[in-house]
Amino acid sequence: MPRAIISPSVLASDFGQLTAECKRMIKGGAEWLHMDVMDGHFVPNITMGAPVLSCVYKDVPGIFMDCHMMVAQPEKWVNDIADAGGSLYCFHIEATTDAVSLINAIHGRNMKAGVAISPDTPSSAITDEIGAAADMLLVMTVYPGRGGQKFLERCVPKVAELRARFPEKDIEVDGGVGPKTIDICAEAGSNVIVAGTAIFGAPSPEDVIVSLKATVTT
Ligand code: DX5
Ligand code: ZN
Repeated sequence: MPRAIISPSVLASDFGQLTAECKRMIKGGAEWLHMDVMDGHFVPNITMGAPVLSCVYKDVPGIFMDCHMMVAQPEKWVNDIADAGGSLYCFHIEATTDAVSLINAIHGRNMKAGVAISPDTPSSAITDEIGAAADMLLVMTVYPGRGGQKFLERCVPKVAELRARFPEKDIEVDGGVGPKTIDICAEAGSNVIVAGTAIFGAPSPEDVIVSLKATVTT
């Protein structure tokens, strides 16, 4: 299995202090920062887009921005996110009809490509061709759209199904993940862990990052 990576979701941070919050997480041991881009179409909420990400990129040297694109037309934002400094562009399979072409376009802009599946989408939506082309597969463990929701355990078998089919790929879980829910995610084969509330809401985010990482590694 690929190495363990903790990707704090900045959706749970103080947006008024966004760059300081990112630096705080990196200091606490986070290797990636999970940037939730919502467009008010694919999901009801609107969060941030390329202009904000580009400010973060300029202020936080070397940041790896794990961009979770909850947008209706993911093809439309590849260039803007690449120009803003995005490191990984993860789109939803439900939002596109040609995932492989989109993955190629993302790679063409030197970003890693991720493909996300929402709770009601089966793992079979990730065809062998899509899975082989992608760098990362994201299994949502809440309905996309907002932070602080309850972890949906019924999504976990999809992690195991994808891990069996794609042993070398990064498999990310996102939504309601924290110290109480990490065990089953790790056991199922997830190696990239997104956590918003569990990390930003903790008295010591650093301790949570260390403990989540230890659970995935062992
Ligand atoms: C939900 C987002 C998640 C969310 C996770 O639509 O994609 O990244 O911020 O937040 P928590 O960990 O609080 O569920
Ligand atoms: Zn997310």
